[in-house]
Amino acid sequence: MEIVLRNIAAGVISIDSEGVLRTINTSAERLLGLSSANVLGKNYRDVVSDKHLEMASESIRELLQSKQGTISKQIFLDLNGARLALQLHLTLLRAGNSEIVGMVAVLDDLTQMMRAQRMAAWREVARRIAHEIKNPLTPIQLSAQRLRKRYLSRFSDDEKVFDECTEMIIKSVDDLKTLVNEFSNFARMPAIQPEPNNLNMLIRESLTLYQEAHRGVKFVISTDARMPLLMIDRDQIKRVLINILENAVAAMEEHGTVTLSTVFDDVLKMAVISISDDGPGIPTEDKSRLFEPYFSTKKSGTGLGLAIVSSIVTDHGGFVRIRDNIPHGAVFVVELPAG
Ligand SMILES: Nc1ncnc2c1ncn2[C@@H]1O[C@H](COP(=O)(O)OP(=O)(O)O)[C@@H](O)[C@H]1O
Ligand SMILES: [Mg+2]
Repeated sequence: MEIVLRNIAAGVISIDSEGVLRTINTSAERLLGLSSANVLGKNYRDVVSDKHLEMASESIRELLQSKQGTISKQIFLDLNGARLALQLHLTLLRAGNSEIVGMVAVLDDLTQMMRAQRMAAWREVARRIAHEIKNPLTPIQLSAQRLRKRYLSRFSDDEKVFDECTEMIIKSVDDLKTLVNEFSNFARMPAIQPEPNNLNMLIRESLTLYQEAHRGVKFVISTDARMPLLMIDRDQIKRVLINILENAVAAMEEHGTVTLSTVFDDVLKMAVISISDDGPGIPTEDKSRLFEPYFSTKKSGTGLGLAIVSSIVTDHGGFVRIRDNIPHGAVFVVELPAG
C-alpha cells in the first residue's frame, strides 16, 4: 500500500477521528510543500495555515453531512507565492461496525490543465480581435496616404498640422498592424511537426542570426555533446529560443551577458536548455503570471512572447520554468523529452 501511495501522482493525506495526520504521500508533500517528518502525528489544525483553516474545517463539515460519506470540490491554495488549483476528494473512513475512524483526502493538481484551458480561451479571443481589427486598417492607411499626396503641397511650412496628423495616422496604423499580426500568429499557431533534429546545432543557428542584431550583448554558449537527436519542430523551437532571448536582451537593455547551455539528462531522458541573463530579474509576484497571454510590464509589449513559449513547449511534452540567476537576472529552463 505504501509503495502504491508513493508512486501515484495524486496527493493523498489521511487523518484519524481525532484529526491527527496519519498518512502523507510523496505527491502531497510536493504539492503542499510539506515534509511528512515534520507533520505526521500532529493535528491538522496545527499544520494548516490560518488562511486555509476555515476552508479545511468547512470541507470536513460538508463531508460529515454528506449522505455518501464523500465529497469532491475545487479549491485554490496560495502557497509560496503561487496559486494552486486543486480538485479535492474527501472520503470518510469507516470501520467494520460503521464507526468513523478518520478520513482520507485526495488532491489532484489542476493548475496545468487550467493554464491550458485559459490559453485556449485566449486564443479564441485573439483570433476574433485580429479578424475584426484587421479589415479596416488598410483603407484607413490608404486614405491618409491619398490625402497627403493630394493636399500636402497646398499647405505652407507654418501649417504643420496636416503633415503631422496624416503622418501620425499612417504610423499608428502600422503599429496596429504589427500588433494584430502578433495576435493572429498566436491564435493560429500551427500544430507541431516533430522531426529528428540536432538541438545543439539549432541553438547555434538561431544565435548566429540573433547575435548580429545585438552587438552590445555577449552571448556565451555551452552545449552537451551527448545530446541525442530530438523529435522537435525546428521552426517552433527556434521561436521559443528567440522569444526568450528577446526578453533577456530587453531586460538587460542591450548590455550584459546571455548564457545558453544544453544538458542531456540521461536518467530522466530530458534535454535541458537554460538561458540566463544578468538583467534585473523577475519580481516574485510576477513569476506566476509571466506565461499568461497579455501579461507584460513593457509599455508597448504584447505579453504574447512567453505565452507562445509555454504553448509550444507544452505541445512538445516539455516544461518551462523560471529561476533566479545569481547574483541577479533570470534563468529560463526548458525541458524537452529525449527518446
Ligand atoms: N529575462 C527577463 N528578465 C526580466 N523580466 C522578464 C524576462 N523575461 C520576461 N520578463 C517579463 O515577462 C513579461 C512577459 O514577457 P513576454 O510574454 O515575452 O511579453 P512582452 O515581452 O511582450 O512583455 C515581460 O514584460 C517582462 O516583464
Ligand atoms: Mg517578449
